[in-house]
Amino acid sequence: MRGRSPKSSYRLSWMTFSEPHPPTAGQLPAALARRFGGRGDVFSAMDRAKADARRRHGHQLIDLSLGCTDQPPPPQVMRAIVQQLGQRSSAAYCLHAATRPLRARAAAWIRRRFGVVADPDTQVLLLVGSQEGTAHFPLAVLEPGDHALLLDPGYPSHLGGLQLASARIQRLSLEPEDGWRPPFASLSHGERESLRLMVFGFPHNPTATVGSQDWLDEAMAMASRHEILVAHDNPYVDLALEGEAPCLLRSPGWQERGIEFFSFSKSWCMGGFRIAFAVGATPLIQALQQVKGWIDFNQSLAIQAGAMVALDNLEDWPAHLRSLYRRRRDHMAQALATAGWPMAPRPMALYLWDHLPRAAGAMDSLSFCLELVRDTGVALTPGSGFGTAGRHHVRLALVAEEPRLTEAAQRVGAWLKART
Ligand SMILES: Cc1ncc(COP(=O)(O)O)c(C=O)c1O
Repeated sequence: MRGRSPKSSYRLSWMTFSEPHPPTAGQLPAALARRFGGRGDVFSAMDRAKADARRRHGHQLIDLSLGCTDQPPPPQVMRAIVQQLGQRSSAAYCLHAATRPLRARAAAWIRRRFGVVADPDTQVLLLVGSQEGTAHFPLAVLEPGDHALLLDPGYPSHLGGLQLASARIQRLSLEPEDGWRPPFASLSHGERESLRLMVFGFPHNPTATVGSQDWLDEAMAMASRHEILVAHDNPYVDLALEGEAPCLLRSPGWQERGIEFFSFSKSWCMGGFRIAFAVGATPLIQALQQVKGWIDFNQSLAIQAGAMVALDNLEDWPAHLRSLYRRRRDHMAQALATAGWPMAPRPMALYLWDHLPRAAGAMDSLSFCLELVRDTGVALTPGSGFGTAGRHHVRLALVAEEPRLTEAAQRVGAWLKART
């Protein structure tokens, strides 16, 4: 049983909340700091640096640090949302039963897309974003101190969810030399036996690796042998530029121990609308539904109306995003190479991910990104925000038009040249 901190530390640390910047993890109340360690520091440091850079560079700030597209959602989706928005029901709380139409559409999409049958009543759940789902899921299935496997680097909500649930986290480092393939085979028998949950997702943010069905099959086979639950986050299922995105629902065993998270944010550019869904084993869906029942009232029916149009009529729409991101990727890789920082094109849309340039010298990824945005007004994401395995890498999101990407590459190139 962990000891509780004295109440006075709460009083002292809460006082820091009145400061102009958000607290760093070191300033958090003891209970939160114990759970979250230093994880928030990278993103809040970048947030502050971007705010300073915005003051200094004004609209010259080029923010390539967020995986939030600059593209609008499909017009058909917007029309459906606007039409439904005027209905009183769109402003009301939405209980689980009222999400049935969306769950049915999700199940139909799963069937067409992957040839998998899922029951909309027991195996599908509406989410307020896949971030929300992956962050809450561990609370639904873990006891404090349960062991859970996490990829490093990995998406922050996967770590945050495990920390919220007070899990004991076992990190599995991904290596560029292995093509970022998770080395499941490196886990000892004892480690496998101790695991209760594995959380990961391919196509993978931040490494922009598509992954392969074999990798998921391997994970699922291990999970079945050792009675481990598997949570697979799949918001980029439509954004593989090379190869095919894997899908947990195609791996045998998901109906016993798997749950997969899909999102409207990336495929249909609806990130700000906060809508997603999970498909998985009935007990896992029920457990997550119960946790969410204490936390939210689902998404507005207006947003659900837009999402249903996307699933019903716009299954092929993400193809145009793939062409757009492929063009931007190739353009930016070329522009950066010309600027003296060759970054290899990645097989997944939306991101470039590579080592820091040689001119960074001994800097880690956070110092590099902080100095870069301060001096040039170009914001990238430090790889360390995704785990220690990312500390010598940066991520660049392809969320600006080509001329703006060229401008970013030129500014970065001039800055690097001045340092050598
Ligand atoms: C792996 C991963 N999961 C989840 C999310 C968030 O998705 P949503 O907008 O559905 O919450 C992102 C966003 O970048 C992501 O990269």
